[in-house]
Amino acid sequence: MDSPILILGPMSSEIDALTAALTEPQETMLGGYRCTAGLLDGVPVVTVRSFIGMVHAAAATALAVTRFSPRCVIIQGTSGAHDPALHRGDLVIGSSMVELGSYYAPHRDAGTGSDWFAYTFPGVQMPVDQQTERVRALRSDPALVALAEALPYEHGVKKTGTIGSGDIWNRELDVIDRLHREHGTLCEEMEGFAVAQVCFMLHVPMLDVRVISNNEWYAEEEFDDSVGVWCQEFCRRLVAAIDRSFG
Ligand code: 5AD
Repeated sequence: MDSPILILGPMSSEIDALTAALTEPQETMLGGYRCTAGLLDGVPVVTVRSFIGMVHAAAATALAVTRFSPRCVIIQGTSGAHDPALHRGDLVIGSSMVELGSYYAPHRDAGTGSDWFAYTFPGVQMPVDQQTERVRALRSDPALVALAEALPYEHGVKKTGTIGSGDIWNRELDVIDRLHREHGTLCEEMEGFAVAQVCFMLHVPMLDVRVISNNEWYAEEEFDDSVGVWCQEFCRRLVAAIDRSFG
């Protein structure tokens, strides 16, 4: 059997539709992570319910990549917009991911409070060309990005760019605005960079795809995870396209 495409979804609302669409499903528990191997429209796929957050994402990716040797990894699900032009239902193709939870806070005297705007983001230590470097952004596989960009999506606009990740949920508009302007983030979520970090270390191509489930710029666009099915629908199409393109 061909090596499968591994698809991670943190919440059940972000993975169950894909798992339910698998034929010949075979379940494996890796620790607490439920992996379901099967065929998605005839293509070998493994879905993983990976739970919310960076550590879960990293652990689930490392365990599942080691067990299933996938040809590529897709992390997908919901996200909160940073770009005011994006709305609930729109889709973000993550060409790169930046880590938003890893910051350096300069010294302040006791009793003077906190100033998030003075924080700097030095990046994450990674081996690059046999040197240790601090890396601010990690890239999705360009071929997977191009494939995703070429596919239709009916539930909103599709935009390619940077996704911010961290064990964070920002609702402060000045913070969201700075991240969007200085770091170019289209949206934020809690897993993409962690998956990219593990995939980089294990030499597996990956892609982060997100549907916008909330946009703090608009009061009426509060978190609604039901849009998670639209991202899964898109990933189903993406699986077929990967299989067509790479055999
Ligand atoms: N901030 C952070 N994570 C978000 N998610 C959706 N919206 C946001 C947001 N505004 C995603 C995360 C996590 C789950 C709670 O939904 O990736 O898995």
